[in-house]
Amino acid sequence: MIFDPITVCNLELQNRFVRSATHEFLAEEDGTPTSQLGDLYEKLAKNEVGLIITGYSYVLPGGQSDIYQQGIYDDRFIEPYRKITERVHRHKSKIVLQIVHGGRQADTTDEYPIPIAPSAVKSGRAAVVPREMTEEEILGMIEAFTQAAVRAKKAGFDGVQLHCAHGFLLSNFISPYTNRRTDRWGGSVENRARIVTEIIRRIKEEAGDSFPILVKLNATDGFRAGSSKAKLGLDISQAVETAKLLEKAGVCSIEVSGGISEAGGVTIKTAINAPAKEAYFKDYSKAIKSAVNLPVILVGGIRSLQVINYLLENGFADLISMSRVFISEPDIVLKLKSGKVEKARCVSCNLCFDLEGISCNFQFE
Ligand SMILES: Cc1cc2nc3c(=O)[nH]c(=O)nc-3n(C[C@H](O)[C@H](O)[C@H](O)COP(=O)(O)O)c2cc1C
Repeated sequence: MIFDPITVCNLELQNRFVRSATHEFLAEEDGTPTSQLGDLYEKLAKNEVGLIITGYSYVLPGGQSDIYQQGIYDDRFIEPYRKITERVHRHKSKIVLQIVHGGRQADTTDEYPIPIAPSAVKSGRAAVVPREMTEEEILGMIEAFTQAAVRAKKAGFDGVQLHCAHGFLLSNFISPYTNRRTDRWGGSVENRARIVTEIIRRIKEEAGDSFPILVKLNATDGFRAGSSKAKLGLDISQAVETAKLLEKAGVCSIEVSGGISEAGGVTIKTAINAPAKEAYFKDYSKAIKSAVNLPVILVGGIRSLQVINYLLENGFADLISMSRVFISEPDIVLKLKSGKVEKARCVSCNLCFDLEGISCNFQFE
């Protein structure tokens, strides 16, 4: 099943493997994408990854949250991205740009000393309490995401993925833990999702109804069950309601993830060394998949063919997304297909976060 083609968002994918968005640390300081990014994506395409999702690309200069992060906040990025998408499209793979604003996790600089967020709730990852966004800033943000998507389309991307996970701005709106607003952008599930549904509506107006919009969605903040923070946080029933609203707004696929920094180590878990530890968000994706009529992508600790087949055959997901595995073995699809290996070698140590460019730095025997 995993090696069978599938049509997602009107895109014909050669198989059900997805390279999950992975910040590569390979852009220039101002966010300009480099030819090294093109090398990396083309390598994945040569190795038959069905759908490649880029590292997160920031939509406004103040929305950067990592060094050497790629940007899409200006028209000058269109040309360098076009060179990249052309290289990928020489092969059968499709490529989608993940777009983001760092929100309360954005880097603070002289120009942007205080991060913005739906509410003034401090991030576990930041030293500064963020400032609550004004109505005008929210409307400006919707336009920034819209223009980013228009640029992505011009640059030849097959779609965009809105980053609504991992404690960045859009997921801050969706979670009641980080969104304490009482206006039309906070409160009910519908109000908290409004910034995202408005972005979708505007992208459709500006980039056309058929331009694919995907979402990476937090299904949980990841707080320990029963803890006081868990009571305030996003629960699966709210995530399911959010997914339904996104479907109604016109999203064509949802990738299910989870975790914010305060919950600690939930998103990119270490020591995935047994099948039972793999696919740690699978119950969330199953709940979302049974509530929407969209292809659901599952990410988080997936390592072996045995687990992949189980997930696809038992209604947990339609596509399988991996990040660290592709850093360690960009050719994993071909290796699994040839029967040479039954699982990826990745030991989930997280040494792949490398400021000189992602790389598997684990010393194998
Ligand atoms: C080096 C690195 C960079 C990441 N950057 C992003 C990113 O830009 N956007 C995103 O949504 N997730 C990002 N993630 C999270 C992954 O997409 C994925 O959700 C997580 O690593 C769990 O999947 P895995 O077990 O297959 O690695 C990153 C993960 C790693 C290891």
